[in-house]
Amino acid sequence: MAAGGGKHGPLYAAAGARVTVLDLSAAMLELDRQVARERGIDLELVQGSIDQLDMFGPARFDLVVHPVSTCYVADVEPVFRSVARVTRAGGVYVSQHKSPTSLQASLEPNAAGRYELMHELARREPLPPAPPSRLREAGTQEFIHSLTALLGGICGAGFAIEDVHEPEHADPAAAVGSFGHRAALLPPYLRILARRQGAATVLVP
Ligand SMILES: C[S@@+](CC[C@H](N)C(=O)[O-])C[C@H]1O[C@@H](n2cnc3c(N)ncnc32)[C@H](O)[C@@H]1O
Repeated sequence: MAAGGGKHGPLYAAAGARVTVLDLSAAMLELDRQVARERGIDLELVQGSIDQLDMFGPARFDLVVHPVSTCYVADVEPVFRSVARVTRAGGVYVSQHKSPTSLQASLEPNAAGRYELMHELARREPLPPAPPSRLREAGTQEFIHSLTALLGGICGAGFAIEDVHEPEHADPAAAVGSFGHRAALLPPYLRILARRQGAATVLVP
């Protein structure tokens, strides 16, 4: 989900999965088409948005892999509700999100080499535009989502969270103001492993 670009889909397909790649961008899906052609891999490519998965039947997928993209939608509730509908009971949902605290903070350090909290967690409107960097993409609107919206939202949609991880990007030797320096103070991402609840997961004593 939001996984176009010729990386995720081909990797899972090469590992033996039957893979569907969903992305909003035809250009990103074209990269998957190219890699699939070059490697002789079979991929289903679907253009669409993460918050509208009506093209897929219920319980269609065993595993949903969802790289960073909830920041691009104003409301995550329809995203998690849609994923829950298309994931079979006992199936797994792996998602990565921009951390709310990182999005709240300044992109550049102050004179003391520290980052300042700039934006309210409850901010509804998109963040102000920023120059392209590893933290902010060009030409996008990005929204802050609280941990309540992300973790609580995934649980509320019918998943049980089994693991939460902040991928390691800190670099103690990095120059002040670099991605690695900021990541040591503000982990940029949150990765969540969740399992769809339902009849298939009920344990018999
Ligand atoms: C940060 S990238 C993550 C995937 C990336 N290809 C990678 O290699 O990790 C964000 C992707 O999300 C897609 N995207 C953004 N908003 C989306 C939406 N509402 N629905 C589906 N895909 C979306 C973009 O087209 C882009 O391919």
